[in-house]
Parts: sequence; structure tokens; C-alpha cells
Amino acid sequence: MGVALADDQGRLPLLTPMSEVAGRMSIQEGAKYLERPQMGRGILLGGVPGVAPASITVLGGGVVGANAAKIAAGFNADVAILDINMDRLRYLDDVMPPNVTCLFSDRHTVRAQLERADLVVGAVLIPGAKAPRLVEEEDLKRMKPGSVIIDVAIDQGGCIATSRPTSHSQPTYIVHDVVHYCVTNMPGAVGRTSTYALCNVTLPYVIQIAQQGIEAVAKKSRPISRAINLHAGEVTNKAVAETFGMPCSERFAGN
Ligand SMILES: NC(=O)c1ccc[n+]([C@@H]2O[C@H](COP(=O)([O-])OP(=O)(O)OC[C@H]3O[C@@H](n4cnc5c(N)ncnc54)[C@H](O)[C@@H]3O)[C@@H](O)[C@H]2O)c1
Repeated sequence: MGVALADDQGRLPLLTPMSEVAGRMSIQEGAKYLERPQMGRGILLGGVPGVAPASITVLGGGVVGANAAKIAAGFNADVAILDINMDRLRYLDDVMPPNVTCLFSDRHTVRAQLERADLVVGAVLIPGAKAPRLVEEEDLKRMKPGSVIIDVAIDQGGCIATSRPTSHSQPTYIVHDVVHYCVTNMPGAVGRTSTYALCNVTLPYVIQIAQQGIEAVAKKSRPISRAINLHAGEVTNKAVAETFGMPCSERFAGN
């Protein structure tokens, strides 16, 4: 367990690129597992002239969800994106292409979407809490046989009752004829892209620390001071100390 760097608005700028990677990748993986040899329904995301494209439902319209919807729309799929934040839905409605429908997320709408979707992407988050569970096991019976769930939120427990963590060596399993993909570290499969994306956002902090020293930078920057978990053999973050039942040093007080 560790505490990530959060800016003054509570956002996690160093984790954003990983959500961008996972969101875009969710559609690539979904396309693969919809193929019949992978036990999917045998559906091409974009369809062809005369044959309808796939229906894709994205649960959660944050960084992962928006990136998933954008790539899905580019494939010409029929996309629905659900969120509970009306401001976010208004923004998505403004920027997404016409084949993306933005819907308020409630139990009724989620269940209706499960009946129509070939591919469902789980992308919800409640900061600092376990992912909210939006799909119960009985709901899977509403889904078409061979449909696919990519539960990106699995690293926070997942938003589907039947999700359990998987790895890149064995990414999927099947419950009630629905293919589940629940890899907890999706960006690891595209390490070249992920490493550059991560370095782009971490490097400015690393340069500051290298040039000025950690103590001086921590005095000026609350995001950095809050993100220091350990220093000189001491736990310096209250949440980490509490989790492990260890004393907390006041050296970087205020984190
Ligand atoms: N598996 C992986 O490799 C991997 C990689 C990156 C991120 N993630 C995970 O993906 C999840 C999403 O990350 P993010 O960066 O997009 O978070 P985010 O905070 O940007 O977006 C989460 C969205 O979920 C919405 N939400 C909350 N409750 C909802 C509900 N009941 N119905 C619909 N929407 C709801 C929020 O309003 C928010 O817009 C997180 O759990 C994150 O840890 C996993």
C-alpha cells in the first residue's frame, strides 16, 4: 500500500496516463475476446455495410471511460457511456461523436444496457473506496451468450459481482456464458507506450527533486510532501502508518 501524488484538486496526475492506456486498451482487448476462437460472440466491432456494428456499454465516464468510448466510437461501434456525475455527462455529450450516447447511471439503465451490449467496460471509481458494484451475478443472465466484460476497475475490487483478478498469462474466464477479462495491471502489456506516458508526467517532479533535494521541494510543494511515504527509514505518511500500525514521523507534516 502506498499513497500516490495528488494535486490540490485531489486528482492523481501520475495515474492519469495509466487510465488513458487501460481505457484505450479495453476496446482492443474487447475486440479480441469477441472473436469466436476466443469464446466470444463472433462480432466485428465496426460491422460491415449491411451488418450492424457491435453495441458497447462503458460504465463510468472518467479517464478510463472517456478513452474507451473514444476508441470504440472510432471503430464505428454503437456506444453508450454511463455516469452519475451530470457535469461529466454534459462534457462527454459535448465532445463525443454522434455514435456515443451519454446516459445517467442507475440500476434500471445498467440492466437495460446489459441486454443490448456485446461488450461492457467497467470503469467506475469512487476515490478512496472500493469500486461500486453495478452488476450482480443474476444480471449476467440478461446478457447475450458470448458477450464480453472488461472490468478495468478490478484493481479497486471490480464493479461486476463475478469479477476476480486475472493476469496477462491467463486474462479471461467464463461465467454464465459471458467472457470476463479482469487484468489488474493492463498497461503492463503495452509497457513501451505506458513507460513513455508515465515518464512524461513524472519527469518534471523528478527534476525538481534532483535539483533542489527532497526536503526543500517538500516545503514548497504540498502535492510532493503529501506523496512522501517513507523517508530515511521512517514512515512519513499518516494513512500508510495507520495501515501498517507503525509510528508516523512528523517530518513532512500536513500530508
Ligand atoms: N486494470 C487496470 O490496469 C487499470 C488501469 C488504470 C485504471 N484502473 C482503474 O479504472 C477505474 C477507473 O479509473 P479512472 O481513472 O477512469 O477514474 P475516474 O475517477 O477518472 O472516473 C471514474 C468515474 O466513475 C464514475 N462513477 C462513480 N460511480 C458510478 C456509478 N455508480 N455509475 C457510473 N459511473 C460512476 C465517476 O463519476 C467518475 O466519472 C479505477 O478503479 C482505476 O483504479 C485500472
